[in-house]
Amino acid sequence: MADSGKSQSGKTNTSGGSLALPVVFVLFYYLLLLMRLDKYLCESTELSRANAKKCLHRGEVTCDGVVVTNSAFKVPAGCDVRLLGEPVMVRGLRYIMLNKPQNTLCSTVDEVYPSVLSLLAVPKACSLHIAGRLDADTTGLVLITDDGQWSHRLTSPAKACAKRYRVQLADPLGASSTELVAQFARGIALKGEASLTRPAVLDIVTPTEVLLTITEGKYHQVKRMFAAIGNKVVGLHREQVGEIALDPALGAGQWRYLTQDEVGLV
Ligand code: URA
Repeated sequence: MADSGKSQSGKTNTSGGSLALPVVFVLFYYLLLLMRLDKYLCESTELSRANAKKCLHRGEVTCDGVVVTNSAFKVPAGCDVRLLGEPVMVRGLRYIMLNKPQNTLCSTVDEVYPSVLSLLAVPKACSLHIAGRLDADTTGLVLITDDGQWSHRLTSPAKACAKRYRVQLADPLGASSTELVAQFARGIALKGEASLTRPAVLDIVTPTEVLLTITEGKYHQVKRMFAAIGNKVVGLHREQVGEIALDPALGAGQWRYLTQDEVGLV
């Protein structure tokens, strides 16, 4: 017998209707969360939104094997999106370590020297930013990402993230190395600053080479700390930021993506 929608007592059975409403809402929110196809193409390729739309209109894009020309099409999870037959996938957040060479800048634009971002052969490098700057003549570990919260944990003064530098000095340190280590631990009075630097850890490797760990990032801080004790930094190389150490396999100018474990250290 066909379901008339009425119970034996003759009352209308509304259970189907009361279920339909939440299902419609869930479906609506699911669709809201999905990415439009033109945005998906922009995020996964070098295409601008306008050029992504042109590709779509030319029928160059398929979703699970079917040509889709509608820019507003919502890309379902796990959909096989292809542009001219090539798979395109939306990138997740990116985390990169670079061994900065001399004469490069930790700014996003090329000025006197090229930006370190120009060393990265990655799509949409312009959406990346540098977590903690180094001077043009400083070499070593630079962390680059598009995850603002992650980089904030590295650079916010409140987080006091430790940075370790290998420092080459112009003049050999004197015999009073124990007092020097204590002086750096107490804090150094930098020229033009009202307060001492935060406690720093000085490890003396040779009379002209030291490892210095600081937990702040004042302008030219390491150079100014040694200037304050009458010495001069002639070589500065950052080896570690927080728990992330520069990969010794990376030569000057080389980079790689961080591992999941490294990302999780921040
Ligand atoms: N301190 C400096 O003086 N320069 C740097 O590049 C980094 C820390």
